[in-house]
Amino acid sequence: MRIFVVGATGVLGRHTLPRLVERGHSVVAVARHPEDVARLRRLGFDAHRSDILDAESLREPLRGCEVALHLATAIPRRPGMGWDLNDRIRREGTRNLLAAAQEQGVRRYVQQSITLLYGDGGDQLVSEEHSLAPYPRIASAFEMEEMVRASSLEWVMLRGGSFYGPGTGREDVWYRQAEEETLVMPGDGSALLSLIRVEDMARAVVLAAEAAPAGAIYNVVDDVPVSYRELYNYVAAWKMLPEPPAGGPPATSLGCSNAAIRRALGWEPAWPSYRSGLAQ
Ligand SMILES: NC(=O)c1ccc[n+]([C@@H]2O[C@H](COP(=O)([O-])OP(=O)(O)OC[C@H]3O[C@@H](n4cnc5c(N)ncnc54)[C@H](OP(=O)(O)O)[C@@H]3O)[C@@H](O)[C@H]2O)c1
Repeated sequence: MRIFVVGATGVLGRHTLPRLVERGHSVVAVARHPEDVARLRRLGFDAHRSDILDAESLREPLRGCEVALHLATAIPRRPGMGWDLNDRIRREGTRNLLAAAQEQGVRRYVQQSITLLYGDGGDQLVSEEHSLAPYPRIASAFEMEEMVRASSLEWVMLRGGSFYGPGTGREDVWYRQAEEETLVMPGDGSALLSLIRVEDMARAVVLAAEAAPAGAIYNVVDDVPVSYRELYNYVAAWKMLPEPPAGGPPATSLGCSNAAIRRALGWEPAWPSYRSGLAQ
């Protein structure tokens, strides 16, 4: 299939693109910066300069594509960078992409989303039927999902857990903080977290693009939600460092189930838990 990808230069995009090619698809990758377009072309992709906030720039690359993947985001990564751009990508960007995809005759649309939309799940295993409780910072993700639901495209939404693994930088921060003795458990450390290796997330995106039924929503998380206490102790153990202390600002407890995507698409994580995922 000919598959359009926005967010091609992001960590999920970088792991998804080669897997699409390995499955025999042709990829149309869009990027904002000329140097990224040049790199994507050298890597063999049909790359175009485009911005999801510029509706016109999406039209030409979408022409002839059967599937569109929205993997774009702008989570603030530097101090002082606010959430406005991320909100705009989720609201205006999603609206632009849905409209352009429809206009260009795209059939299937895959929206990357976030499990954080469930809010606090306590010690339950949260499935896709769980009600959503978006707090203000992620209200735009809730609206993004609403827009996708209202679309007449064959849409699919993937709610990802917290990415870790190559290129995410996530575990690098944990290890560095453990070494600097600044890694602190939120609250008493009992809150749960659902992780996903970014390569497993990318495999789920590919399967969704190929085979997910229209209107499906799947959590994409590993098999075992982990408490911050267990996770941070494991990180510290690898480095033979003291157990990180408790008492940091409390975190939402959210452990999610991946039963639906396992059942529907035959997806299973190559890294079922942080244990193999963080092995050094
Ligand atoms: N990271 C996580 O733990 C996590 C967890 C669950 C779900 N997700 C979701 O997974 C998706 C991908 O996340 P990620 O971690 O791969 O993000 P990322 O590494 O920050 O990449 C974001 C991508 O979006 C692109 N982008 C930003 N602004 C754009 C614009 N105006 N027009 C077009 N493209 C634009 C970026 O391009 P530039 O290179 O030009 O900036 C980059 O390719 C997002 O939907 C995110 O919400 C992430």
